[in-house]
Amino acid sequence: MAVQTCYQHTTKAKTRRIHSVAQSQQLTDYNGLTALITGASSGIGRLMALQLAKNGARVALVARRKDELEALAEEIRAQSGEAVVLPCDISDRQQAEQAASQAIKKLGSVDLLVNNAGYGGQQKFLDWDLDDVEHIMRVNYFGTVYFAKALLPQMLQRDRGWIVFMSSVSGKIASPKKTAYAATKFAMTGFAESLSLELDGTGINVLTVYPGTIDTPFHNSQMRNNMPEKVRDSMKSADGVVEATFDALAKGKREVTYPGGIAMGYVVKALAPEFLRSQVLKTTKKES
Ligand SMILES: NC(=O)c1ccc[n+]([C@@H]2O[C@H](COP(=O)([O-])OP(=O)(O)OC[C@H]3O[C@@H](n4cnc5c(N)ncnc54)[C@H](OP(=O)(O)O)[C@@H]3O)[C@@H](O)[C@H]2O)c1
Repeated sequence: MAVQTCYQHTTKAKTRRIHSVAQSQQLTDYNGLTALITGASSGIGRLMALQLAKNGARVALVARRKDELEALAEEIRAQSGEAVVLPCDISDRQQAEQAASQAIKKLGSVDLLVNNAGYGGQQKFLDWDLDDVEHIMRVNYFGTVYFAKALLPQMLQRDRGWIVFMSSVSGKIASPKKTAYAATKFAMTGFAESLSLELDGTGINVLTVYPGTIDTPFHNSQMRNNMPEKVRDSMKSADGVVEATFDALAKGKREVTYPGGIAMGYVVKALAPEFLRSQVLKTTKKES
């Protein structure tokens, strides 16, 4: 009986501890929060930055196009928000480190890192120039690694922080003509999953977001023309991904797929890989 009580006691204490960690990782109050968003000049990142500022966060805006970032910062300031513009090519390690340290200097800290910048590309593997294969990996994957490496120490010092990785469904399920792009997102998936486990028990939460096809400038006209009609017609707006990201942060989730129904594909892939393969080939037929 005494043993059972002791066990119950320990279990209760453990549950309380797990609960309190989980709660500290739920992000619901953005007032005074500091955030750095990469890829803030366009699409999902731009909307994410606007929404964060609207909710009371002080934001650092990172991308290459300074004019676009300045215009966004003006829009944020016009709504009484605070924004810092940090133009940077994230594939350049020195530039990324400098932007991260400037953000800490100007905002005092970075509580939330949104690793969002990235680009796509769709062509057969043999048509890819190897320089381009290396470059897309430097932007989509190494760019996120540089920012995580630079900003994690000050999060750990405060035992508080959130790191969001904007991956892609292509980081879980590959499709034809996406060798270079899918590889960057699979790399991100592995990195984020390992980092999340490593940070278990700390106050830092890693959230990986897996968007499906989203209507942003990410898709150039050639990509849009190549899209099967069904995919083009079912494209979602960036608002949905941003909303799903905020919702996942509020619940302390570690991953979210948007639209959620796509996540069924991961289960099918694990249980019946050949069936999923045939489905992917069928839906991407026009692109091949
Ligand atoms: N749209 C989709 O269907 C979709 C689906 C799944 C995942 N995603 C992911 O979502 C993220 C955002 O994409 P989006 O749809 O919002 O595309 P987007 O509108 O084209 O925005 C991409 C952003 O990345 C920035 N960027 C690109 N290369 C950069 C570099 N070398 N250095 C710094 N910034 C760079 C761009 O800014 P500058 O050009 O000013 O540098 C831009 O702000 C990407 O990681 C993408 O892979 C998108």
